[in-house]
Amino acid sequence: MARRFLIAGNWKMNMTAAAGAQLIADLKAQFDCGMKCANTEGPEVLVCPPFTTIAAVVKAAEGTVLNVGAQNIHWAEKGAFTGEISGEMLKETGINYVIIGHSERRQYFGETDETVAKRVQAALASGLKVVLCVGETLAQRESNITDEVIALQVKTDLGAVAADQMANVVIAYEPVWAIGTGKVATDEQAEEVHKNIRALLAKMYGADVAAATRILYGGSMNAKNCAGLLAQPDIDGGLIGGAALKPVDFATIIKTAKDIAK
Ligand code: PGA
Repeated sequence: MARRFLIAGNWKMNMTAAAGAQLIADLKAQFDCGMKCANTEGPEVLVCPPFTTIAAVVKAAEGTVLNVGAQNIHWAEKGAFTGEISGEMLKETGINYVIIGHSERRQYFGETDETVAKRVQAALASGLKVVLCVGETLAQRESNITDEVIALQVKTDLGAVAADQMANVVIAYEPVWAIGTGKVATDEQAEEVHKNIRALLAKMYGADVAAATRILYGGSMNAKNCAGLLAQPDIDGGLIGGAALKPVDFATIIKTAKDIAK
């Protein structure tokens, strides 16, 4: 089954509204059709700016093929949750994706698989598509428990997600040791984990859902190393941090995905 590549930019805590709008303008300029034509760019493309930059980016992306997403969501509909943002609030901004469970959220802000699972549920209930991040630390990889760690995350984080909701879920495998470090997983290391995640999805949801679910690689993916990663059979795109802030590099990754298109 053909899976369309998804090239997703995670801007993290970078880009004011003005800088974000400029980045979209610069990105558009990298494509002959200004990212207006659906078939020219090939892969689905997503950018996830900080909350306060979303409105400016949604406006700048109008009339293009760009999707815009957020970097987190709270599970409650509303209430006394200082500093949090609900699904309804996110939908209102015009976005259609949300990143959930990024390792920086888990590492620095105490996110657990239980809270990640609640956020996934809330996002799907709000009509948002989910980019669910999972990944092992260096210590876990060195202890040879990568597969167990990832399997536990996938099972717990997807929790109550039903098979028919999986069409709105993308999984991002992001080895923690590769994020922002310049230390990318080898094509083979990444493919092995992606293959195992797909096998797990087959057990959880059946072969059709497993074959249709996109699994992205994240962690120091850039314009130079993306071709090898994207050529792997079970790698269906990238979740890109640093390189997504550079329009030429991000455009190169999009164009590479288009050339490889499965
Ligand atoms: P990086 O970040 O590409 O800068 O390593 C990826 C991510 O954290 O999603």
